[in-house]
Amino acid sequence: MISYRDNQLYLEDIAVEEIVKGRQTPFYLYSLSQIKENIEKVHWAFEGLDYHISFAAKANNNLYLLEELKNLGVGIDIVSSGEFEACKRVGFQPSHVIVNGNGKTKSFLRNLVDYQPRAVNIDSLEELERLEELVNDCEESIVVALRINPDVDPITHPYISTGLKKNKFGMAMETAEIIIHKYFNHPFIKIEGLHLHIGSQLLYISPYEDAYNKVKEFINGLKNHQLKFINIGGGWGIDYTKDGAEFPLQEYKERVIPILKEFNMEIILELGRFIIGNAGVLVGSIEYIKETPHKTFIVSDASMADLIRPSLYNGYHHIYPQYNTGEEGIFDIVGPVCETGDRFAEDRRLNRPEKGELIVIGDVGAYGHVMSSNYNFSLRPAEYLLKNNRIEVVRPREDFQKATAYYNR
Ligand code: LLP
Repeated sequence: MISYRDNQLYLEDIAVEEIVKGRQTPFYLYSLSQIKENIEKVHWAFEGLDYHISFAAKANNNLYLLEELKNLGVGIDIVSSGEFEACKRVGFQPSHVIVNGNGKTKSFLRNLVDYQPRAVNIDSLEELERLEELVNDCEESIVVALRINPDVDPITHPYISTGLKKNKFGMAMETAEIIIHKYFNHPFIKIEGLHLHIGSQLLYISPYEDAYNKVKEFINGLKNHQLKFINIGGGWGIDYTKDGAEFPLQEYKERVIPILKEFNMEIILELGRFIIGNAGVLVGSIEYIKETPHKTFIVSDASMADLIRPSLYNGYHHIYPQYNTGEEGIFDIVGPVCETGDRFAEDRRLNRPEKGELIVIGDVGAYGHVMSSNYNFSLRPAEYLLKNNRIEVVRPREDFQKATAYYNR
């Protein structure tokens, strides 16, 4: 989606200079064709299997984007009442909805029983007992999957690893086994599947191999308790650093798909980042180039309130100046928020930009706008969608009046 033509930065076929005309920076811009290309890759890998792709709404909950995904036949993975409202609003079919989360409230569970999603992924025995009370009361059935924690190291940032026994998610295999034996013939709780999600931004195949092999062994041990599907979670990484570290899909197809085939069950995927991560950019303007005896700071109008990944995880995002002709230098790219951690990159080598020029931060389609905040009373940036070479506004910039509507003085 990003290229330089005649030394000028283009997003698809439009110069970023054109894109910005009449629009207030900072803003997010997404590419529908990139999203489609990513989904095609998943189809390519799973060709021949009985599978269904769902999109992890936590990665990006823009309702217009969710609608585009729905129209592409993708289902949705939700984790909260808010995401549940979003999925109903966009009109996903209940059979395309998967529910995750380790802290589902009673009222959320009650609403799910009425709604009848494809499956509720149960995080713990305690949660199952809460659900059991509810369904016994109303005498309605619900399809569930047990989220197991296979205790494998996903080899990723500790904040986004989820499948280690010290992590808060899921249950030990032994617990799952006890639950299956106890609940398999329950009149209302229908245990139809297993779920696992071992972490996010994975770039190696072996954690998936290890986890799915463990699950295979587990299922073989269940004997006459026949399950229908396995939800293999998400986590496929993207090439943030642009040094060729892409998710090794060919290798996945060769090494992981054969394991999944042996399950002989429906496979459900819950991908977020892989579907939308590289399909979004954050466009900002440069307010100052500040020289100090130690550093040169590029001060942009975008901040950690718009994109928190670099501050929170020290996440690397590639940064593109408007022109690639400036002399190369070393810069810190920072925002205007009053925190030292309000920094998109430290000591980054870039072609020197000029004050007033544009700057683009790559790979922010996932966990970008959704994690933005009002810190320093920043207003959440607008979101635009590039579709058929046209730019549509899919969410206007947050409005101060609306953001303060609770204050009626
Ligand atoms: N399924 C479950 C149960 C999850 O918890 C997640 C992500 C996904 C699927 C989707 O994972 P993905 O395919 O996007 O890796 N804010 C962090 C990422 C947190 C991921 C949380 N769970 C970041 O900015 O890197």
